[in-house]
Amino acid sequence: MKKILLIGSANMDLSMNLFKVPEAGETLLDDGGIAYTPGGKGANSAVAFAKLGGECVFCTKLGRDVHGQKLFNYYKETGINTSFIKVDPEAPTGLAVVMKEADGNNRIVVYPGANRTLNNDNIIEAFKSNPDALYIGFEIPFNMALAAAKVASAKGVPIFVDAAPASKDYPLETLPPVEIFSPNETETFEYTGIMPKGTDSCLQAAYTLYNKVKAKYIVLKLGARGSFFYDGKHFDLIPSFRPDDVVDTTAAGDTFTAAMTLEYLRSGDIRSAMTYGSAAAAIAVSRKGAGASVPTAEEVLDFLNKRARKQ
Ligand code: ATP
Ligand code: RIB
Repeated sequence: MKKILLIGSANMDLSMNLFKVPEAGETLLDDGGIAYTPGGKGANSAVAFAKLGGECVFCTKLGRDVHGQKLFNYYKETGINTSFIKVDPEAPTGLAVVMKEADGNNRIVVYPGANRTLNNDNIIEAFKSNPDALYIGFEIPFNMALAAAKVASAKGVPIFVDAAPASKDYPLETLPPVEIFSPNETETFEYTGIMPKGTDSCLQAAYTLYNKVKAKYIVLKLGARGSFFYDGKHFDLIPSFRPDDVVDTTAAGDTFTAAMTLEYLRSGDIRSAMTYGSAAAAIAVSRKGAGASVPTAEEVLDFLNKRARKQ
């Protein structure tokens, strides 16, 4: 089994079920319910690796507070290797306010807290785990993601990038060569100025990214429409699976990219990796929560078998 070092963010999510988000200057009373649940783009992907049968070493920074303690315990219970999780003495654990509207849309604001304090020493130390692959995202400072990528590259460790959240100011061209670089629709727009809607604009956006990032594959996540890959010569749209029900799309992208990476490391085949990612994400959107919505390897296999029988 391949060992994946994930250097990324951890948040406690405060999820609020709202009929609608308030307008500027408006106060709303809404008793749709709230919950504190484990989240953070990095952590959600770490949970996905562990639940899907991967070996995941998670390097992140938590605060010395109740949220940090709860998250640490949760990662341990989930089977994540927590040896390189650090606690910052001052900054609080990252907090995300996830506002979910009745129509299924969500808006997320993240207070990064301890995620901002991840430093070079933490990264160098984490590579003592001797990983077979590095997985990074941008909910930690970009220069730390870049530093991790450079260490991996020097050691010949393949790199996978969940390119979220995005900023057009990120110097993507400074990243060393990566296997897969994967943004969602709005992130693609932020990086390229092109909204990937139809095949032409997907190809144009992927081509623009391919010329900026030294990636073997650009994989665009397109929500319910599926995902699109480009490798400099070939492109294809891998349609999503229709979920039994769409309950909560939080962490669909984190689940998709981790599941795709895991399957790619097993098979080396981008199409089957994207199909596997799509199945895992389709299950995740049919359940509440972020990390909590991620399926197990058995659930994904069962889902794929049932869908194959229907065809
Ligand atoms: P999030 O920010 O909610 O974690 P994202 O915006 O990063 O997600 P999406 O493009 O929305 O990522 O979703 C990633 C993948 O999940 C899609 O490529 C698709 O395979 C699957 N997916 C997302 N939403 C749906 C849906 N409504 N139905 C089926 N599959 C979906
Ligand atoms: O991708 C979903 C995640 O984004 C949430 O869990 C929240 O913590 C934010 O990081």
